[in-house]
Amino acid sequence: MFRTTFKLLFVLTLLTATVSAVHALTVGGPHATMGFKCADCHKTDAPQAGPTNEACLACHESYEKLAQKTKPKKINPADKESHANPHESHMGPINCTDCHRTHKPSELVCGQCHTFDFVPK
Ligand code: HEC
Ligand code: HEC
Ligand code: HEC
Ligand code: HEC
Repeated sequence: MFRTTFKLLFVLTLLTATVSAVHALTVGGPHATMGFKCADCHKTDAPQAGPTNEACLACHESYEKLAQKTKPKKINPADKESHANPHESHMGPINCTDCHRTHKPSELVCGQCHTFDFVPK
């Protein structure tokens, strides 16, 4: 009797661990309240890696359109860095997920080398 209860507890613990590992990947950031399914971004119900740019751009059009929206408002001709646009730079069309993270806080990849005041959601 004791052993069965013990085994049952063990199985339950394993189950809970598995369930919470899946739930740990909650959708945060700007899409948090939109009721998205995993496949809305990942194109699969069992994702192994981050979404492709194509998947994000299915809803967000193109890098060109995004660059229009995030054009710098004030440009100081003496300061080359004031031209900085997160969606149009010498880095090229890099992965959206290099900055926009969803399951953890977003982070500006440019920050490895520059200090800009724009922050990705
Ligand atoms: C709004 C879009 C979006 C939705 C919806 C979404 N994800 Fe993600 N997911 C991402 C992004 C962005 C990354 C890349 C994160 C990174 O590279 O740091 C990612 C990465 C992942 C990864 C790769 C491992 C990791 O942690 O980087 C897995 C696995 C994953 N997601 C599972 C899921 C599951 C399961 C769901 C549904 C519950 C889900 N995702 C829903 C955007 C999304
Ligand atoms: C199924 C459609 C869909 C997909 C796929 C999707 N998004 Fe979105 N996203 C939206 C909608 C709708 C909004 C809210 C309206 C808006 O701001 O465009 C939004 C908002 C955002 C915002 C905030 C915009 C703002 O003005 O505050 C960012 C950043 C963003 N998405 C990035 C991404 C990235 C990166 C991916 C891929 C990992 C992605 N989205 C995938 C539909 C989508
Ligand atoms: C180098 C980091 C970086 C990458 C890569 C990046 N973004 Fe962004 N994104 C940002 C930052 C920073 C902002 C906020 C800009 C601001 O506040 O002026 C932003 C804003 C946005 C917005 C809101 C635009 C608006 O003002 O209406 C959307 C939507 C978005 N990104 C989607 C994407 C998608 C989709 C991709 C990939 C095709 C992508 N981003 C790649 C950094 C990045
Ligand atoms: C690995 C380091 C590194 C990263 C990451 C990086 N940069 Fe740069 N960036 C440089 C260097 C080096 C220069 C040249 C500096 C100079 O000309 O004095 C530069 C120059 C620039 C300039 C001024 C000249 C030009 O090409 O317009 C801008 C604007 C700029 N970067 C924007 C960005 C943006 C936006 C990102 C992120 C999407 C980014 N950088 C990511 C290293 C980096």
